[in-house]
Amino acid sequence: MEPYYSDDQVTLYLGDMREVLPALGLQADLIVADPPYEETSHDWDRWPEGWLEVAATVSRSMWCFGGLRMFMRFAPEFTAAGWHLSHDIASKDDVDLLWEKHNASGPNKDRFRRIHEQAGLFYQGPWRDVYRDPQRITTGVIERGRVINNGAKSISHRGTYANNGWTDNGTRLMTSVIRARSMHRNGGIHPTEKPVPLLEPLIRYGCPPDGLVVDPFAGSCSTAEAALLAGRRAVVIEGREDHCEAGANRLSALLPAA
Ligand SMILES: C[S@@+](CC[C@H](N)C(=O)[O-])C[C@H]1O[C@@H](n2cnc3c(N)ncnc32)[C@H](O)[C@@H]1O
Repeated sequence: MEPYYSDDQVTLYLGDMREVLPALGLQADLIVADPPYEETSHDWDRWPEGWLEVAATVSRSMWCFGGLRMFMRFAPEFTAAGWHLSHDIASKDDVDLLWEKHNASGPNKDRFRRIHEQAGLFYQGPWRDVYRDPQRITTGVIERGRVINNGAKSISHRGTYANNGWTDNGTRLMTSVIRARSMHRNGGIHPTEKPVPLLEPLIRYGCPPDGLVVDPFAGSCSTAEAALLAGRRAVVIEGREDHCEAGANRLSALLPAA
């Protein structure tokens, strides 16, 4: 099958993912999917019936973006295709709530103003067989008072907690809420574009170094850019030629100058 765009790390195909993925016959370490689920007026925003079954033939691990309404509505389809939910993260729009009004998505005025996105990590088969690399952030070593010596003395302790063997290496697990600036009015090229700083830790968590990430609903090719930054390969598929063209321009602009 002829790619729309390819370089050493990324290949982009134009077409319906339900036809392209079976034709490629590949196996991926991780899928990152941001499917259309009929909550906007965009003409491409139609749930592609059967996509979850196709995805299940390609990988045992998948981050899927969506809202709680979507996950509840399509839960039977996730289950029927063998996808179990491990956990979810939320991305919070990194804005000043008081002053920035433009980032709220959705037309509804009778609800809380939505400033977060959700993604669930779904997997096939036993969880123990699923690759995962919990991501950590650097905080610096924290100094705290701690009672040691049978409780006789309280000292300010830095580094190792003697009585439980835990060593503070100055890092902490990333939390399930990731702050990332919305792409709306921030250079985005797609109406529902995901920020790369949100995608990169999800990819590092679920795909081994040098592994392969598949994004079946590529949009602006944000997943491909995040995979590049994380040192992973990516195969991405997009159903609309105008989105493919914008995505290919984005990817070729990332190539080192010849
Ligand atoms: C929610 S958007 C993805 C946005 C993307 N995550 C980004 O950051 O730019 C969904 C995309 O899937 C595409 N699409 C819809 N149905 C498709 C299908 N059956 N196969 C492939 N792409 C499809 C749409 O054209 C749209 O660009």
